[in-house]
Amino acid sequence: MPEASGSRFLKALSGETQTVPPVWLMRQAGRYLPEYRALRAQAGGFLDLCYTPDLATEVTLQPIRRFDLDAAILFSDILVVPHALGQDVRFVEGEGPRLDPLASRAEFATLKPEIDLGTLAPVYETVARVRAALDPSKALIGFCGAPYTVATYMVGGRGGEEQAPARKLAYRDPPTFQALIDLLVEASAAHLLAQLEAGADAVQIFDSWSGDLPPAEFMTWSAAPIAAICARVRAKRPGAKILAFPRGAGAKLKAFAEAVPADAIGLATAEDRRAAREAVPAHVALQGNVDPIALTAGGSALDAAVDGVLADLGDRPLIVNLGHGVRQETPPEHVAQMVARVRRRS
Ligand code: CP3
Repeated sequence: MPEASGSRFLKALSGETQTVPPVWLMRQAGRYLPEYRALRAQAGGFLDLCYTPDLATEVTLQPIRRFDLDAAILFSDILVVPHALGQDVRFVEGEGPRLDPLASRAEFATLKPEIDLGTLAPVYETVARVRAALDPSKALIGFCGAPYTVATYMVGGRGGEEQAPARKLAYRDPPTFQALIDLLVEASAAHLLAQLEAGADAVQIFDSWSGDLPPAEFMTWSAAPIAAICARVRAKRPGAKILAFPRGAGAKLKAFAEAVPADAIGLATAEDRRAAREAVPAHVALQGNVDPIALTAGGSALDAAVDGVLADLGDRPLIVNLGHGVRQETPPEHVAQMVARVRRRS
């Protein structure tokens, strides 16, 4: 098994406070990098890129080479899970993902009863190749979407609009929505376990949309299914390192941290760091939460944003990151500036 025990990232996940904390960025591979755009142009569709190990390995490693980040994140997407459950998934240039929406109970019956991991074999091959190519001091992060967030795309066919179709279904027909969430818990746990088996050092669960839910629904549809995934994964791999990113949890962060046994919790951009440190137990690492728009601005505003994270959270286990993904218009030099600002603590 490849090891990354000297890695700052894994030390943070083990509860260590470090003078120089690890730094990586959500969506660190992507269209803001010219080398990504060049490779993307050759690949055909976005899913073809995700399912071609040569290309996906290269794209995963591009930001590590350029910026010497502490962790690589597998190049893939949260929507490969619905795809491997038999739903049609397309990425429309300039518009984002489109799925055939699951509108009726009958359409749910068209989904496979369990995830077809064979469809995702190229993804696990990519994990193995990236791990073999990475320096032991760098960690490799696998990931999935949280059941609620993935369900919003599956039911509505797209993101946005406060996920109204999924939320309507959850209110009108809770057993059907619960059955979809349960299917996604099993599928996501299997997908994360396969990534860990292939060599991922840790896995992150992205819950991009649950912050909009009222508190009771948030616990039922976001926190409980994520906790169930953690239990499934650790039943097979005790000690598996898990990061959870409940984007926009805000005042619900404390209840989330009590329900979900994650090694790290990601803070979104608008999260109050002082409140978060009270809400999340001190042995759990916090990850975040530089404003991605400060990253596009660069200069002294970016330095101040990084310094703010270090000042507020540097005395506990910390993983420096953004509060959401890198934006397309980000100048790559600003990422280098952010990494240098963190490392100057050495
Ligand atoms: O670098 C990384 O972080 C690893 C790869 C990664 C992608 N998507 C690649 C991608 C990860 C971790 C994701 C997660 C993801 N995907 C989330 C959760 C995080 C978040 O942003 O809230 C969500 C909601 C999705 C669904 C998704 N995929 C959307 C909404 C879009 C369109 C937005 C866009 O920027 O185009 C995608 C497409 C996508 N996923 C791209 C990339 C690099 C752009 C595709 C392209 O190059 O054409």
